[in-house]
Amino acid sequence: MLKIESVNAGYREAVVLHEMTIEVNEGEIVTLIGGNGAGKSTTLMTISGLVKVFGGDVLFEGTSLLGVTPEKIVKHGVIHVPEGRRIFPNMSVLENLDMGSMLRKNRAEIDKDRENVFELFPILHERRNQVGSTLSGGEQQMLAIGRGLMARPKLLLLDEPSLGLAPILVQQIFSVIRKIRDDQGCTVFLVEQNANQALQVSDRGYVLATGEIKLSGESDILLKNEDVKNTYLGAS
Ligand SMILES: Nc1ncnc2c1ncn2[C@@H]1O[C@H](COP(=O)(O)OP(=O)(O)O)[C@@H](O)[C@H]1O
Ligand SMILES: [Mg+2]
Repeated sequence: MLKIESVNAGYREAVVLHEMTIEVNEGEIVTLIGGNGAGKSTTLMTISGLVKVFGGDVLFEGTSLLGVTPEKIVKHGVIHVPEGRRIFPNMSVLENLDMGSMLRKNRAEIDKDRENVFELFPILHERRNQVGSTLSGGEQQMLAIGRGLMARPKLLLLDEPSLGLAPILVQQIFSVIRKIRDDQGCTVFLVEQNANQALQVSDRGYVLATGEIKLSGESDILLKNEDVKNTYLGAS
């Protein structure tokens, strides 16, 4: 579904990603793990057309995304939930969710997807008329993911969904990610520092350090890998 082929990408003159090659197959959950500053967010921004690609190619369902505007990439079904729960603080939960379905027309399908988001995150239904800024950190993360789902993604890109959340919420978020894939068939590519839990819900993983893929494989194998254990699983 997604192919990142020998990509060099970054900002102005600063190349951050070096010869990156990653594949995500339809129906998979794939995790990119890496420490702070490794280039995880840059990788997701490369897919959604927000950073400069100096070389290589990014293909979605066989079509190159290079030179395609971020809005068109969204229309292809590639939905990016950015780091840091960027919801609209002055809008209600319902209004935030509506922003996610802005490019769609079929009212009945939109209503159904909203119901589905409320089923995944019942607390958002309780808080539906509250403005975003009054939600807890965990609720804001749920809203950010919910808003992404309102676009009916084929491929959902999640940037550190567990960042800064209490352990119980982290577990809840990861189990919802699994549910999104299992129930809706949505393909998920997530980036995380929280390698342990992320790898536990994903099929495969890649390890990124200073912009280079160091290791890749099935998640169970990565979880047992000594280097991965020592570098990324210590704290969790
Ligand atoms: N807007 C930017 N302009 C220049 N350099 C940036 C910008 N954003 C990030 N970087 C640099 O790119 C590298 C990777 O950053 P990032 O992708 O945010 O890492 P991660 O998400 O893994 O923490 C870092 O060295 C960071 O300083
Ligand atoms: Mg980041």
